[in-house]
Amino acid sequence: MSQNQVKTVVFPVAGRGTRFLPATKASPKEMLPIVDKPLIQYAVDEALSAGADTLVFITGSSKRAIEDHFDTNTELESVLQAQGKQELLDTLRGILPSWATCVYIRQPAPLGLGHAVLCARPVVGEAPFMVHLADDLIDAEVPCLKQMVEVHRAHGGSVLGVQNVPPQDTDKYGIVSLAQGASGRVGRMSHIVEKPKPREAPSNLAVVGRYLLSGSIFADLAQIGTGAGGEIQLTDGIARLMRREAVYAFEFEGKRYDCGSKLGYLQATVEYGLRHSSLGADFAAYLKEFVATL
Ligand code: G1P
Repeated sequence: MSQNQVKTVVFPVAGRGTRFLPATKASPKEMLPIVDKPLIQYAVDEALSAGADTLVFITGSSKRAIEDHFDTNTELESVLQAQGKQELLDTLRGILPSWATCVYIRQPAPLGLGHAVLCARPVVGEAPFMVHLADDLIDAEVPCLKQMVEVHRAHGGSVLGVQNVPPQDTDKYGIVSLAQGASGRVGRMSHIVEKPKPREAPSNLAVVGRYLLSGSIFADLAQIGTGAGGEIQLTDGIARLMRREAVYAFEFEGKRYDCGSKLGYLQATVEYGLRHSSLGADFAAYLKEFVATL
């Protein structure tokens, strides 16, 4: 395999999703739907279109619904078959192509994103791999991870998807700064820090849930201690990796919805609803009428 082929993607899905309680008490936040598809399926679709064929889910308690979603449900399929509901049957069968493999690894304790990614080491090995945070839904003509694979092909190294955020929001993100002279959408990074206070932030360029990482980051993740919030942070592992290898920040093209927040989730629901093939026109008519009453 060429070193530029990136076949494995890691989905850290062990988080508790407390911001959506009580909806997420017994059901994973990654299963929250945007119109009619759960967030985790948007995530998997993006990874598959970027060339991944091995999907590694780092799971925790109350996450079994994710495994069920990507598994065959023979009982449901035979009911739909008997009812002649071929379109729904095709939709179900199309959730995952037969050539994709799902691997589920249980994170033994919620020790942080860096620890979750480290749990994937036995499957990923030394090869470059992708990490996708399903909370960050990105709508783009060319799927974000696919754009990042192209950047990796052109430049090598690791690539992080970044976006400018309002200066007051830096304490919600990993914030990067670029080496001097960087211009355009791809820039070599000189610094990364997890959730700095606005007055301490080196920039307002934030990592938004997409990573293409060198396999050698596992050695870093295995060595770092706890960081911001008392957790083992992926950001701190990347900061160590940058001492040896190039890490690039990439301002991808596309619109990102923060579906880890209720407002971002509602925005995504409205905009994806308006674009939905069978629902969009009716929903737009309803919204116009409704907005006029406000
Ligand atoms: C995580 C990362 C952070 C990144 C963010 C993107 O934070 O630790 O560096 O910017 O995802 O959404 P979390 O949102 O899990 O607190």
